[in-house]
Amino acid sequence: MSSGSGGESAAQAAARLRTEIEQHNVRYYVYDEPSVSDAEYDGLMRELQALEAEHPELVTPESPTQRVGAAPVSAFGSVRHVVPMLSLNNAFDEEEVAAFDRRVADTLRGAGMLGPAQQPDYFCELKLDGLAISLRYEDGRLVQAATRGDGQTGEDVTSNIRTIKAIPLQLKGAAPRVLEVRGEVLMNRADFEKLNEAQARRDEKVFVNPRNAAAGSLRQLDPRITAKRPLRFFAYGWGEVHGLPGAQSGLFDEASAGAEQASQLPEKSHGAMLEWLASLGLPVNVLHNHRATGAEGLMAFYAKVGAMRANLPYDIDGVVYKVDSLPAQKVLGFVARAPRFALAHKFAAEEATTTLLDIEVQVGRTGAITPVARLKPVFVGGVTVTNATLHNEDEIRRKDVRIGDTVIVRRAGDVIPEVLAPVLEKRPSDAREFVMPTACPVCGSAIERLEDETIARCTGGLFCGAQRKQTLWHAASRKALDIEGLGEKLVDQLVDSGRVKTLADLYSLRPLELVGLDRMGQKSADNLVAAIDKARAPGLARLLFALGIRHVGETTARDVARHFGSIDAIMDADEDALSSVPDVGPVVAASIRHFFAEQHNRDVIEQLKAQGVNPVAEAAPQGTTLAGKTFVLTGTLPNWTREEASMHIQAAGGKVSGSVSKKTAYLVAGEDSGSKLAKAQELGVAVLDEDGLKALLGMS
Ligand code: IVH
Repeated sequence: MSSGSGGESAAQAAARLRTEIEQHNVRYYVYDEPSVSDAEYDGLMRELQALEAEHPELVTPESPTQRVGAAPVSAFGSVRHVVPMLSLNNAFDEEEVAAFDRRVADTLRGAGMLGPAQQPDYFCELKLDGLAISLRYEDGRLVQAATRGDGQTGEDVTSNIRTIKAIPLQLKGAAPRVLEVRGEVLMNRADFEKLNEAQARRDEKVFVNPRNAAAGSLRQLDPRITAKRPLRFFAYGWGEVHGLPGAQSGLFDEASAGAEQASQLPEKSHGAMLEWLASLGLPVNVLHNHRATGAEGLMAFYAKVGAMRANLPYDIDGVVYKVDSLPAQKVLGFVARAPRFALAHKFAAEEATTTLLDIEVQVGRTGAITPVARLKPVFVGGVTVTNATLHNEDEIRRKDVRIGDTVIVRRAGDVIPEVLAPVLEKRPSDAREFVMPTACPVCGSAIERLEDETIARCTGGLFCGAQRKQTLWHAASRKALDIEGLGEKLVDQLVDSGRVKTLADLYSLRPLELVGLDRMGQKSADNLVAAIDKARAPGLARLLFALGIRHVGETTARDVARHFGSIDAIMDADEDALSSVPDVGPVVAASIRHFFAEQHNRDVIEQLKAQGVNPVAEAAPQGTTLAGKTFVLTGTLPNWTREEASMHIQAAGGKVSGSVSKKTAYLVAGEDSGSKLAKAQELGVAVLDEDGLKALLGMS
């Protein structure tokens, strides 16, 4: 409720607006679940700004209007950490984790804190790949923020930290006299991509990864720039603490915080401490923090997090295990600059450096030329990588990558490895710039790059063996004609021998011609011909998709097929008629029109018909199949936008909601699904991918 209720004083109204805005900040920046639209949020901010303009005496440093960023500074001051900011010992395998657990158990048993048959209890967290920060609150107000620096002395980044909306400027409830909160500032991957796109558009520095972007944003001398950067924060510990309110005093003792001893809390644990920080309004990673017992419990957490690593919205480089009991932490103590009670268990690094041996080009299905980096083999993201994409010519220039450079390579999850950046300090004097070839390396046709396009293309069309092969692979794929047994190797042989030039040629293949090809016996030849035969009556949508027309994905193919009902009608449709199909814009319409304007493409359709290929139109689905079911969408789906997926769900009678609850029937999760996926898993909500949703919709 934001509009002024009767009788409210200006001070009360300001307080109410501040609370409301900060609550929205937390929902948005901590839990990724906005509870109001951007417009409503902006409205509240404007209301508060107007009120403060009218009553300047009401402005406080903690007001959300004061987050916009103070004046630039020429250098950061330094801050001494009274309680040093330590680092963690690392483990890279199960044996090292077991050894850590044994040491912990032995020490605690020796101290009489653990029974002979008992195993230590741990608190497990994600090892967030950002930068460590210490926030100092005095009487609940944020007064200082510092980087880790060398652990003893850091840089004063208070003005910058104040712009991060996930960080409260004022703690909730009864706060201690002094509370230093330690945690990680980071940037979500999606925000990082957007930031880099915007930076590139403005010809400004692009960042190598989210961590560098977060660090660079925080180390800005001008806080107004930091204010525009989408930074986030999670708390995972504390530093100096004094003057705790009664109920919490038992949590602490001098081991961790030098705080006074007082009444005993039922539980003196790291987990309880984090819960308390959360109750003060600090962002704590409640979704992923987890208690576990013994080495086995730790390994189970490691495996669980490893499996969802690629779906998290931010980068992590491992998990952290902390002995949960605070008295036990005290007994274990510290060695050198790391605690004996905690351990970082690292994942395979997703980035590594290696030498860029050469840049070659690959020809895609539609002739797109992609520069590919040939690399000195390097182990990254759990596999040995020898090739990585460089996307396009402009990217190579923008990143200033040269042949011979030492480069940073990234491979995360199943994503194709990419070259992120050169290491300029290591550039050899004979490093060469990449030059886009003028002729296709496969067919010799000219390579052309239209003025307003980033992609260069081979102009050979289906004359080009590379394009022909990929068109056939695509046509045979599961979502197109679904011809089992027609793999890449076979297509290569059929095209290289000249036996198959077009899709139609496939249908005239006889087992006899196939026997004798590499790894092709009588039985597999018979099976393949049978599989091709099965694809003689494909759905019209599948056939249209199989043709590999530029910009015509599965969804467009289906919409166009439903609209026109026959291949002849589609072939003869002009751009206006094509554009009348919902969701088909001028680019797609022109692409379809151009495809069928080419005589050789029309010939292929005629040849297909002559081979008895007879596409059948499918009917639209019923519209009641999903009645009463609520869906939540998250992450990026491979083909559909979320809007498209919502449209299909609603067309089938389902409902789409923004947040996961027990009432959610299905979560449809794509790449980079974060908190919603974890929540669905927690609640036992069924999780579907795009294919699963299509199956449910009867579209597969
Ligand atoms: S605890 C005394 N917990 O890892 C231990 N650190 O190598 C203090 N980090 O500088 C750190 N996630 O930047 C802790 N859940 C987590 C963490 C975490 C990331 C970073 C932190 C620290 C480094 C230690």
